[in-house]
Amino acid sequence: MNTDDFRKNGHEIVEWIARYFQNIEEYPVKSPAKPGSIKSQLPDNAPDKPESFEAFLKDFNDIILPGITHWQNPNFFAYFPANNSYPSILGEMLTAALGAQCMIWETSPAATELEEQVMKWLREMIGLPRGFEGVIQDSASGATLAALITARENITGFTSNNDGLSGSRRLRVYCSSQTHSSVEKGAGIAGIGRKNVVRVKVKEDFSMDPESLEEMIKQDIKMGYQPCCVVATLGTTGATAIDPLRKVGEICSWYNVWLHVDAALGGTALLLPEMRWMTDGINYVDSFVFNPHKWMFTNFDCTAYFVKDANALIKTFEILPEYLKTRSRGSVNDYRDWGIPLGRRFRALKLWAVIRDFGVEGLQEKVREHIRIARLLGTWIQQSTDFELLAPVTINTVCFRFKPEGATEEALNKLNENLNHRLNDSGKIYLTHTTLNGRYTLRMVTAQTNVTEAHVKRAWELIQKEALSLQSEG
Ligand SMILES: Cc1ncc(COP(=O)(O)O)c(C=O)c1O
Repeated sequence: MNTDDFRKNGHEIVEWIARYFQNIEEYPVKSPAKPGSIKSQLPDNAPDKPESFEAFLKDFNDIILPGITHWQNPNFFAYFPANNSYPSILGEMLTAALGAQCMIWETSPAATELEEQVMKWLREMIGLPRGFEGVIQDSASGATLAALITARENITGFTSNNDGLSGSRRLRVYCSSQTHSSVEKGAGIAGIGRKNVVRVKVKEDFSMDPESLEEMIKQDIKMGYQPCCVVATLGTTGATAIDPLRKVGEICSWYNVWLHVDAALGGTALLLPEMRWMTDGINYVDSFVFNPHKWMFTNFDCTAYFVKDANALIKTFEILPEYLKTRSRGSVNDYRDWGIPLGRRFRALKLWAVIRDFGVEGLQEKVREHIRIARLLGTWIQQSTDFELLAPVTINTVCFRFKPEGATEEALNKLNENLNHRLNDSGKIYLTHTTLNGRYTLRMVTAQTNVTEAHVKRAWELIQKEALSLQSEG
């Protein structure tokens, strides 16, 4: 492809993207593809001779698109969103064009300095204290792993990177029973061990019970374990529960335990001053992660990781082979020392594009509206005699089930599972589920970039209609 071809094809792709967004609600939200159906249409071997861009685009439309679940469709209410926006897409295009590998300041000074500045903006935008410094990571899982490794280094006097863990007391990590699986995965990778993740009980609203946390820490100390890290969540994956930071933080400070906050989804809500009650106690926090690639209109991947003591992070991850020595070292940030991978994409560019295009007020307006429509759906469910709300609506996620009179718990679980599949197979909306107190729970997340009250209302009508028809089928 030469420059003229690129120009022509590039215009065509931008046209394709614009049309895609105009027509996005016409696609089935969840891909109806069956396992193997896409692969069976692809040739066994790579082409020996060059093929045209037209042929590529045709196959993209005919083979690939039917196997895509449309996360940007406003009728996507599943999981947590991975939303995007036009400025984000355009920023990402420029990142791809520059193709810069931004591992150190020298390999693209602007990438490092823009990242520093944008992370400072973001820190102010979500109301974190001034002392925190931020760095962009690939995922909340990666940032949580970085936090666990830093906590491990910290508690072992920065010896375990060199010496391993064999000589030290068994380290323990604490999180609630509702915490995301990335903590368990991270503890395994960090050498702490999945078995050493202690699951703390939750209260009725699914938030961590601090009394139970303290009890477990005390018990562990008695048994000769070394408490290392507590992970508190602002917006758990199941029911978006908010762990009580101040109480958890006080316990961490009494027992000298690292406090990491997983605000993968909930962090975006902190754009709103009225949601900052969630960070009461933030001064106790050592590290904090949130994902602009979930709910802040910035396409995957873009995770914001903030730490109170950047030196502890750098001391944990820096390693200096001869080929990475530079004259500027020490006077600039080399972000390769702030996380696990060496190579880094220029992710700050799309974040910068998003923040500038929306403005802080524009971001706040959207996020506030998403929270409003989630609460509205919560009230519709509460008012309905056939449905039951299963958790408080704290942010943008509504947990509920169909509950016709007289059905047993077992029957309700089956009924709601069937309802979920039927709704998703319709292609009209996409919901996912969790289990809360043994109950099959439908989750509806109203956080897609372009979701409106009208989408939520239509989805609610569809849910009621399908539930009743399922019930009448027995
Ligand atoms: C609370 C929470 N933490 C962490 C993650 C993992 O995020 P990532 O895909 O960025 O690793 C998720 C994913 O949904 C999540 O809900």
